[in-house]
Amino acid sequence: MLEKIKEYLKNVDSFSSFAEEEIENFRIKYLGRKGIIKDLMEDFKQVDNKLKPELGKVINELKSKINSKIETLKSGVKTGENKEGDENDLTRPAGETNPGSRHPVSLVRQEIIDIFSRIGFTVSTGPEIEDDWHNFSALNFPKEHPARDMQDTFFLDDDQKMALRTHTSSVQVRVMENQKPPIRTISPGRVFRNEAISARAHCIFHQVEGLYIDKEVSFADLKQTLLYFARELFGEHTQIRLRPSYFPFTEPSAEMDIYWGLNSEADYRITKGTGWLEIMGCGMVDPNVLKNNGIDPKIYSGYAFGMGIERIAMLKYQVKDLRLFFENDVRFLKQFTSAY
Ligand code: PHE
Repeated sequence: MLEKIKEYLKNVDSFSSFAEEEIENFRIKYLGRKGIIKDLMEDFKQVDNKLKPELGKVINELKSKINSKIETLKSGVKTGENKEGDENDLTRPAGETNPGSRHPVSLVRQEIIDIFSRIGFTVSTGPEIEDDWHNFSALNFPKEHPARDMQDTFFLDDDQKMALRTHTSSVQVRVMENQKPPIRTISPGRVFRNEAISARAHCIFHQVEGLYIDKEVSFADLKQTLLYFARELFGEHTQIRLRPSYFPFTEPSAEMDIYWGLNSEADYRITKGTGWLEIMGCGMVDPNVLKNNGIDPKIYSGYAFGMGIERIAMLKYQVKDLRLFFENDVRFLKQFTSAY
């Protein structure tokens, strides 16, 4: 019997695994209800009393070896390394890896870029800290004009010359400064407004701006482009409508809604009972904006649009609280591992 136990001790010593299942099988083999220890205890009862002290000691030794073995192997599974094994053994199986996932805002941003790239839009960017000219004045927001109040601004200095950009429309100006028409570009980026943080608003969010300038660009071009976009993003039967609106830098201006439907109670809530959902602002580039940027409005015309990425991500992934996009809670982010 002593020989047998010594053999078990050797086997326990040499056992190694990173696989949880193998370690569990090992445990059952030794400690299970019909396991080796149980058998040994049965045999132990039959043994001559004189031999019991010595045998009892080795059986106990075996038991504690098994237990500590299981413990070290299990912690190896968790940390991805076998503490007992040779640290330099390059052939040992790799530990579990934990690949991250792309953030839902990145996913939607990329999808919007893909959709517009297919019809020839380039991607351009601009700074997040902007001067008054690019964020407001060049876009036909005169100083002291109430339109500036539409966007509660984080100014960086007392004389309000510099601010965190309140919209990506500032990139329109930067593009017009640096390129001659035809211009066909979208500008994704982060924007900032001094809003109280809630389930529907945040002081940081993301927008995608679009700008198209060429000869004879009309409102029909704008409408058709937005219809194409909405159908690529939300499905081929998506309907859109354009509602008159106001922005200082577009004339005429509109809000684009998509028809979301009224099939469920949630649909009533998110569409306020209308079935329509606002997706973006848009319009024909105001001639003043073209002039401000050295483009002759008698020769060229254009359209612009701007949308919030989080808003689209909320619709697409049925996210009810905007704050989730900024909290970086892995339990939330992990749900997008399989999203494309
Ligand atoms: N910049 C506007 C906003 O943030 C959206 C917009 C962009 C409207 C381009 C028209 C044209 O609300």
